[in-house]
Amino acid sequence: MNDTKEYFRRQDTVACWWHPESPDDPLHQHTLTQLQWASAVLPWAGKQVLDVATGRGRFAIAYAREGADVTAIDLSRQMLDFTRANAQAQQVAFPCLLADAVHLPFPDRSFDVLSCMEAIMHVPDAQAALREFRRLLRPDGRLLISLTNRYRINALGRLPTALYQKLGLIDLGDLRIMWSYSLPAFRRMLRQAGFAIDDVHGLGLFQPNARVVLSRRLSFAPFPPAFAHWFFAKAEPPLRRTPLKNLMGTLNILARPVHQQ
Ligand SMILES: C[S@@+](CC[C@H](N)C(=O)[O-])C[C@H]1O[C@@H](n2cnc3c(N)ncnc32)[C@H](O)[C@@H]1O
Repeated sequence: MNDTKEYFRRQDTVACWWHPESPDDPLHQHTLTQLQWASAVLPWAGKQVLDVATGRGRFAIAYAREGADVTAIDLSRQMLDFTRANAQAQQVAFPCLLADAVHLPFPDRSFDVLSCMEAIMHVPDAQAALREFRRLLRPDGRLLISLTNRYRINALGRLPTALYQKLGLIDLGDLRIMWSYSLPAFRRMLRQAGFAIDDVHGLGLFQPNARVVLSRRLSFAPFPPAFAHWFFAKAEPPLRRTPLKNLMGTLNILARPVHQQ
């Protein structure tokens, strides 16, 4: 668990693979659509917002530009530096603090909205983080959180690797930086932490970055990326709120605090 956190604290680890604002990123349209969902799902002006695991700050900056009073935290000093620079370039400024999602340095009920996008999948003790989010939210507050869907079509690409690991044919080491959840399992975790889900929005039935990995050197795209891009833009939008979302790569969730029994 500490190794996972060390990985994110280290210089040039997550920074090497997380650049959602780059048009060259295969998931660029995906991350833009996610940002549009978050911007539209709540009124932001005047809200006190904590953006947990802010990364390069794309959500924190969008909320600040909509008039929210934002605080951003991350485990990585380097990512916070990117956030400050990106915020300055977009003419907003807010506190950017070094902190762990499971130990947040704020008093109970400090925030109207807590946002934790594209990050809970990297927190080994996710249940502890959800409890911390609940502690910080005011009773009429809202949680925005996204998760990597355990049953996404993309996950099929990992089956050969999982099989080789089971058979002892490859050793990928002990470092784990990713945890995925099914929607029912995550709903239970949210309930245990004192949240109820208001809205679920799926994204990415066929993700353009999907690869079936056959060996260290050999992998292939299970469907052509051009098809995945076309499907995402043209066919998927009306499906995002249907049961098909249960097979999409990312689930964006809006939840509210409830009384715990
Ligand atoms: C994939 S990036 C997502 C960033 C941003 N929320 C976004 O959607 O663009 C994940 C971020 O989570 C941060 N992170 C990972 N574990 C964390 C933890 N336990 N507490 C705080 N931040 C963490 C990483 O440093 C990284 O910046």
